[in-house]
Amino acid sequence: GFEECWLSGRLLDPQHLVVLLPHYLDDHAEPEVLLEKVGRAGVITMNRPKVLNALNLTMIRQIYPQLKKWESDNETDIVIIKGAGDKAFCAGGDIRAVTEAGKVGDSLAQDFFREEYILNNAIGSYRKPYIALIDGITMGGGVGLSVHGRFRVATEKTLFAMPETAIGLFPDVGGGYFLPRLQGKLGLFLALTGFRLKGRDVQRAGVATHFVESKKVPCALSVQLFTSDALQGRMKGRGVVEVLLFSVSCPNSVRLFSASSVEGIVKNLKTDGSEFAKKQTETLSKMSPTSLKITLKQLQAGASLSLQDVLVMEYRLSQACMRGYDFYEGVRAVLVDKDQNPKWNPSTLEEVSDQMVEQCFSSLGEKDLTL
Ligand SMILES: *[C@@H]1O[C@H](CO)[C@@H](O)[C@H](O)[C@H]1NC(C)=O
Ligand SMILES: *[C@@H]1O[C@H](CO)[C@@H](O)[C@H](O)[C@H]1NC(C)=O
Repeated sequence: GFEECWLSGRLLDPQHLVVLLPHYLDDHAEPEVLLEKVGRAGVITMNRPKVLNALNLTMIRQIYPQLKKWESDNETDIVIIKGAGDKAFCAGGDIRAVTEAGKVGDSLAQDFFREEYILNNAIGSYRKPYIALIDGITMGGGVGLSVHGRFRVATEKTLFAMPETAIGLFPDVGGGYFLPRLQGKLGLFLALTGFRLKGRDVQRAGVATHFVESKKVPCALSVQLFTSDALQGRMKGRGVVEVLLFSVSCPNSVRLFSASSVEGIVKNLKTDGSEFAKKQTETLSKMSPTSLKITLKQLQAGASLSLQDVLVMEYRLSQACMRGYDFYEGVRAVLVDKDQNPKWNPSTLEEVSDQMVEQCFSSLGEKDLTL
């Protein structure tokens, strides 16, 4: 079948495709692409697993407007695109219909490519983090949906190729842009031969920006993090993505640490009750309540500041700690007396008011750090 062909390299010409595709295309009642909000993330799921999530014009016309909407929507921080099923992200453009249209002079032959390339460009110039989870076969049109985005997460199941020369086409969807920018002549080699890069090699080649084990990808997608009102759109760009990727290696952290307050996080941990959560609860219980609250706020604020502004903020915090109590007590307990038993003051989270935290961030006037 279609799938076997792409996988085994026996795909020789477009006619071959026309013959091979039809029996996969008849039994789809489900939407071919899912567009959902998961917290503050827009999630696109290519949903034609039986045809390896092949991209067709109907899907392009659904994805493009939603992508633009999310780009200016103040309730969306990032966009994630993934494929349904366990084989493919997207094995390419659904060119069966295109070649058929071409034969009879139907406008689909123009519309498909034009609108596909417009979509590729929208991804390449996207103003919010765009994360493609290329967990499986990623070829041709699937490459166009991923490689121009800021983040491409490969897994051991990723199989990347631009195999168009095998069907009398050329490596399009921006292949002329990204392929020559790969190291050495790698891009030209991939373009001419349709060679399949697999797993970690996809990252090594620079096609993917990150690598995670496939089984951990669902954790990345349990992005309850993005439901957190702690974010409130303040934690943008890289910050969000790093939390996302961190969450891939520490699955529970996403859900458990998605609260708008330290108390909320502790509550999540206690409710969860897992070994992981117990360990984190214990760890947090040893920390200075004031420090925990300052830190949460610092990270929330810092996510939308420049490095310079973060350093100015941190200098203020350092001075607030110098004026306070816990810093001295912590040094005493851990470094001087080494009893490891600091007596924090305030000793509970509840006693540390928002106002107390807020004060630590106030300007030092003339004494502020200037960069
Ligand atoms: C795209 O695929 C879906 C699902 O198979 C189908 O319903 C739709 O007609 C296709 N669109 C085009 C333009 O081929
Ligand atoms: C988000 O946009 C809506 C409508 O465009 C507006 O009413 C709201 O104040 C905005 N929220 C923020 C936090 O900017």
